[in-house]
Amino acid sequence: MTLVKSIPKTPESRISFTEYQRYDEVRQYLSQLASSYPSTVTVQTIGQTYEGRPLDIIQISSGGDGSRPVILIDAGIHAREWIAPAAALYVINQLVENAAESALTDSVDWHIIPVLNPDGYEYTFTDERMWRKTRSRASILCTGVDGNRNFDFHWNEVGASSYPCSDTYAGSEAFSESETQALRDYILANANRIKLYLTFHSYGPYLLYPWGYTSELPDDWETLDALARQADAAQQAAGGPSYAIGSSTNVLYAAAGGSDDWTKGVGGVALSYTIELPGGGNQGFNPPASDILNLVTPFFEAVRVFGQYVADNYG
Ligand code: ARG
Ligand code: ZN
Repeated sequence: MTLVKSIPKTPESRISFTEYQRYDEVRQYLSQLASSYPSTVTVQTIGQTYEGRPLDIIQISSGGDGSRPVILIDAGIHAREWIAPAAALYVINQLVENAAESALTDSVDWHIIPVLNPDGYEYTFTDERMWRKTRSRASILCTGVDGNRNFDFHWNEVGASSYPCSDTYAGSEAFSESETQALRDYILANANRIKLYLTFHSYGPYLLYPWGYTSELPDDWETLDALARQADAAQQAAGGPSYAIGSSTNVLYAAAGGSDDWTKGVGGVALSYTIELPGGGNQGFNPPASDILNLVTPFFEAVRVFGQYVADNYG
């Protein structure tokens, strides 16, 4: 080995935001953070995918012995939406490695699953760039379930398909997928601490809150709406685009079985959002890697508003 290769990398260079990362690289980054920042970072495996990949979550905590409010973030339940895991990795990078952002972790813990559907994610690198679903083979007809139609709250009532070859196949039953089971079990186990849930998707830009199964609004929609508008304003001030804001049914389309609806309706997390990051590339889901930083840097300002809100109200 040459000398230059053995020089330890600086923390900043351990992850690149000028390339999209394979799942192995994502996991490596998380485990490097856990060894470099043992007092603030823990990595746990919360389940296995259909193909046997570990589902990793990173827990970022500056103290409090597990008593602080938690913000839970996941990304990449839809395989092709590459900017979503990249955004989650950027949030992780800033919260852990950027000392200037330490205020965000002063009174709030952040639990982040950067790739919730790694089987599908890897498949978009190796076989089919526009793959959306998991890679489970419950049907002889076709592969995969839409993870975001698989949650057990008004499951398969609207905006989902019972046909296994559909891109919005809800699954043979609610929680048929090990990936959605893992998220469910994690949320139920930490329900008393999780104050806010964000699931990153693309493409929008949309900032969506429940419900996705009905055009009716939750009782506390004004709180959800006001916080979304504040987050949008902050990221616009940093050069981001204008997000469309509202309930997912009213702003986008009705679709039941989403993780946002379940987390609020069953998990009891009042503040639950789906964020559709801006699109890019010729198919919306494929912004060039050279655009990652331009997309995620302003976006972080929206995440900061969510963090500040939880610190102010529950910290
Ligand atoms: N584009 C996302 C999807 O189709 C939107 C999800 C919004 N939430 C919902 N519960 N429908 O999965
Ligand atoms: Zn999506």
